[in-house]
Amino acid sequence: MKVPITIDGQMVQIDKGAPIIDAAKKAGVVIPTLCYHEALKPYGSCRLCMVEILLNKQRRLVTACNFPVEVGMEVFTDTAKVRHILIVIFSGSLCLRMDFLKSSRSDMVLICFNLLHLWF
Ligand code: FES
Repeated sequence: MKVPITIDGQMVQIDKGAPIIDAAKKAGVVIPTLCYHEALKPYGSCRLCMVEILLNKQRRLVTACNFPVEVGMEVFTDTAKVRHILIVIFSGSLCLRMDFLKSSRSDMVLICFNLLHLWF
């Protein structure tokens, strides 16, 4: 059964229960992914595909690669909340990768704190 949803204001018809990312592809909207691959079962670990949805008058952030579409769902790929959460995800990843610099743990914490402080 096909259900209507909107992605960034664009109406699409998609199979009920399909992941949001499939609806986005159908609408021509690109959502960045890292851990998702069509041939594998999605498990939503990297959080890079976060989008904001409005469903039953409630807004929330979900992962587009494994969250199923429902009737009347509105999906937004570029909101202040989405941008905020992506910055947090990127900052965390960057901080975790800093160990290759052989910094001391306290240096890493200080650098990460300053990075986050700059961005917020
Ligand atoms: S692509 Fe990794 S959580 Fe969706």
